[in-house]
Amino acid sequence: MKDELLELKSRALKELESVSERPDIEELRQRYLGRKGLLILLLKKLVELPKEERPAIGKLANQVKEDLIRKFQSVSDSLTTKDLEDVSVLDVTLPGRRIPLGHLHPITKITEEICNIFVKLGFRVVQGPEVELDYYNFEALNMPKEHPARDMQDTFYISDNVVLRTHTSPMQIRIMEKTSPPVSIVAPGKVYRPDSDISHTPMFHQVEGLLVDKGVSFGDLKGTLTTFVHQMFGPGIDLRFRPSFFPFTEPSAEVDIRCVVCQGKGCRVCSHTGWLEILGSGMVDPEVFKIVGYDLESVSGFAFGMGVERIAMLKSGLDDIRLFFENDIRFLQQF
Ligand code: FA5
Ligand code: MG
Repeated sequence: MKDELLELKSRALKELESVSERPDIEELRQRYLGRKGLLILLLKKLVELPKEERPAIGKLANQVKEDLIRKFQSVSDSLTTKDLEDVSVLDVTLPGRRIPLGHLHPITKITEEICNIFVKLGFRVVQGPEVELDYYNFEALNMPKEHPARDMQDTFYISDNVVLRTHTSPMQIRIMEKTSPPVSIVAPGKVYRPDSDISHTPMFHQVEGLLVDKGVSFGDLKGTLTTFVHQMFGPGIDLRFRPSFFPFTEPSAEVDIRCVVCQGKGCRVCSHTGWLEILGSGMVDPEVFKIVGYDLESVSGFAFGMGVERIAMLKSGLDDIRLFFENDIRFLQQF
């Protein structure tokens, strides 16, 4: 058995010399030293030996085992050193792994673009609450409790006098309450309505605008909004001011832009009118000035509220507003 042990050792060492890859070394180690390896198999025969021979052979077996373990370890260590020295394993010329970067949502981008145009025209950007008092959302905008104009903007009531705001117009009141004229602000933000079709979503974004000063006229409103539309869409775009009604402006007008989906021929997106409404506007109603305590005799002003998604749709020729909120990465990546 002594010979067998020594023979096993020299065979293992010899085979170890002939391999150089890590997996081969590991396989060899398992074959000789593993739990079902050749050394264990050999040691099972220990019981067959006469009792007095066993201690000496056992000792030799341990010696062989330790020698082999040490040898395997040193071969594997030298391989690690070789790996580190071998620069080709660590190829610094390979292109790096790209970490995918996200970007702002298209609606956020358009909101910023809109605000930037007004900032250049001298407006200041302000923001206010999406969960709003009934007072600011309706009451102070000349829409008392039973006013029919509330129907179009029925909304989620948090309590009797707290609502999800249906437009950004409450910001007009909030700003006028704490600022004396002149005022020129834009207020971007989310608003909520019970709407859903290809040009309406239940949550959408508006940018409110308000300018109050001495001698502001409807001409100023028209000039400002026309300048905005030209900056946003280019000077070639067709727009029209259409008479309208809002309880908090007098007179009122809505601005439409020639539908870019059908070039004005009429389609689903523009409800076959050839035009898509982007904003409501008007001269601030004297009632509103009274409510915030402005002097009707010395100031006048205009206000507007535009739909950000509508502008984004027109800019990119999109035919369904709901795409913005489906969170399909293939859609969002195109912006
Ligand atoms: C208003 O919300 C008024 N507060 C606008 C205003 C402000 C008038 C200041 C006068 C003075 P209107 O409901 O028309 O008006 O909405 C304004 C714009 O929001 C619309 O022109 C349209 O572009 C957009 N809009 C309205 N409802 C939706 C909807 N459900 N989804 C997407 N955009 C919408
Ligand atoms: Mg409207």
